[in-house]
Amino acid sequence: MENTRNQVSTKNPTLLQSEELHEYILKTGVYPREPNPLKELRIATANHPMAFMGIAPDAGQLMTMLLKLVNPKNAIEIGVFTGYSLLLTALTIPDYGKITAIDKNRKAYEIGLPIIKKAGVEHKIDFTESPALPILDKLLENPEKEGSFDFAFVDADKNNYWNYHKRLMKLVKIGGMVIYDNTLWGGSVALREEDVPEAKREWRQCAIEFNKLISADPRVEMSQVPLGDGITICRRVC
Ligand SMILES: C[S@@+](CC[C@H](N)C(=O)[O-])C[C@H]1O[C@@H](n2cnc3c(N)ncnc32)[C@H](O)[C@@H]1O
Repeated sequence: MENTRNQVSTKNPTLLQSEELHEYILKTGVYPREPNPLKELRIATANHPMAFMGIAPDAGQLMTMLLKLVNPKNAIEIGVFTGYSLLLTALTIPDYGKITAIDKNRKAYEIGLPIIKKAGVEHKIDFTESPALPILDKLLENPEKEGSFDFAFVDADKNNYWNYHKRLMKLVKIGGMVIYDNTLWGGSVALREEDVPEAKREWRQCAIEFNKLISADPRVEMSQVPLGDGITICRRVC
């Protein structure tokens, strides 16, 4: 008889069962180690009406460690907002490293920019105000750009994640890393559509479709991490 014990879980093995536990993690292991420029940027963003858009600091901490392991020379970031994830990348990569940062709206970036300048890492950032797809397509017109990035972070319009992925599978080298934020979309991916507020349904569906596609993509190894709003860590293997 087929052994289904490992396929059917009867209880929720997730550790994060309460808001208090999340607070505990932030206060114990994340905020005390958060570099001062990042703390400053997080506080400067706190009163922004869209402050919730910044990467979760605990997910950012994991991303910092991954960046140190990859040690990228060339990184790409899609979706900058006020710049928390961009600043953590700029603080982490080597001094000669470069980040191609793209956001369709520069206004929020202006909030983080003075802090980025004060931290002495602005020289690593090449910011472009534009929708991201045409910029990726432009990069791909130059054959030298294929495989020229070591790391990419995607945190923008969820309906384009697969379009970004198709392009990043050419721009990021084999062995390089790509991280996608918000892939659990507030946990709504596992709820019935009728139980999800209408405003969240469209991007919930995008996340569900993206998660299915990425899971079946032989070009990457992947890990779905339930930190923050869910991050998917991919390593290009072919
Ligand atoms: C969730 S926020 C990014 C948060 C950022 N990574 C951080 O840690 O603070 C999403 C950003 O994506 C940008 N965005 C949305 N659609 C875009 C597109 N098609 N091309 C480029 N940027 C886009 C928005 O302007 C917004 O600033």
